[in-house]
Amino acid sequence: MSEEVILTVSDLVTAFDTEAGLIHAVEGVSFDVKKGHTLGLVGESGCGKSVTALSIMRLLPQPVGKILGGQVLFQAEDIIKLPAERMHHIRGFGISMIFQEPMTALNPVHRIGDQIREVFQLHYPEMTDKDIGAQSIEMLKKVGIPEPVQRMEEYPHQISGGTRQRVMIAMALAGKPDILIADEPTTALDVTIQAQILDLMKALQQETGMAIIFITHALGVIAEICDDVLVMYAGTVAERASAVELFKNPRHPYTMGLLSSIPRLEGIRKTHLNTIRGMVPSLYDLPDGCRFQNRCPYVMPGCQIEPPALRVVGDEDHVASCYLYLN
Ligand SMILES: Nc1ncnc2c1ncn2[C@@H]1O[C@H](COP(=O)(O)OP(=O)(O)OP(=O)(O)O)[C@@H](O)[C@H]1O
Ligand SMILES: [Mg+2]
Repeated sequence: MSEEVILTVSDLVTAFDTEAGLIHAVEGVSFDVKKGHTLGLVGESGCGKSVTALSIMRLLPQPVGKILGGQVLFQAEDIIKLPAERMHHIRGFGISMIFQEPMTALNPVHRIGDQIREVFQLHYPEMTDKDIGAQSIEMLKKVGIPEPVQRMEEYPHQISGGTRQRVMIAMALAGKPDILIADEPTTALDVTIQAQILDLMKALQQETGMAIIFITHALGVIAEICDDVLVMYAGTVAERASAVELFKNPRHPYTMGLLSSIPRLEGIRKTHLNTIRGMVPSLYDLPDGCRFQNRCPYVMPGCQIEPPALRVVGDEDHVASCYLYLN
């Protein structure tokens, strides 16, 4: 597979204007996405995964969400600086997103068919209505929706959660994007459907060569489908590595904590899950120094002074932000 990098996020800083002041939800996040590869974005709730994705898409809630710094390079253009109409073109064609809440992306008052047709109309204005209809049905078939002709006539509330998720995937893929961002695409679904959706995404990736940014809490899913992993903690990068390396040789104490709290998928079931003690600090009240210090079993006197920088801790692409690896 090609190692060509198609998206580079460097030092992204994203903030929200709140009644209690400006909070930085993402602070200096950097990573690459390679063509045809899957990058997993993992971390506990509130650590900034969705905000990172929405920053890339330039779909932060307005007017409160703001990108304050950094670069998002896609096809030699900095997405952050693009005029709105150019960004509109990139969304769907270049980068598509499957949102965490399917119902927010689907319009409840429009039929499934009209919503998927609209995506084709937007991206392929030269297509005839007849072709658009045929392509829409084809797309629904491709994502494994039975009786697509009938589904086209239905409204979102008439179909199951799994089918809604598939409709979203179909809409996200209609513009043949180079990158698909999938934000927790399976958490609301039962286990069998989850597995089907993951298989489907992998199959479509093989067919089109698109890259995927896969956002999840579940490290088990990461192990199954990701090539590279970015572990986020309280808006920052804790660790970044290939998936093989991360599971074999986790270096950040937060990653080690996450790994010891995954339920085993096969073999003996753990009856007691080790969870990481304590809570993620509030973005309104961050400690000086390392953001993980209050929960870290290896905390040292130096950890409270300055945030640790990312350092190489294994093979070249393996980096972690932790004072355990000063040298
Ligand atoms: N509109 C907003 N206004 C203020 N703060 C926000 C807003 N949206 C998100 N945040 C804050 O940004 C931080 C990161 O949120 P984000 O949604 O990216 O978390 P996440 O990692 O996706 O979590 P989850 O796993 O629960 O989806 C959180 O502390 C959240 O409260
Ligand atoms: Mg989220």
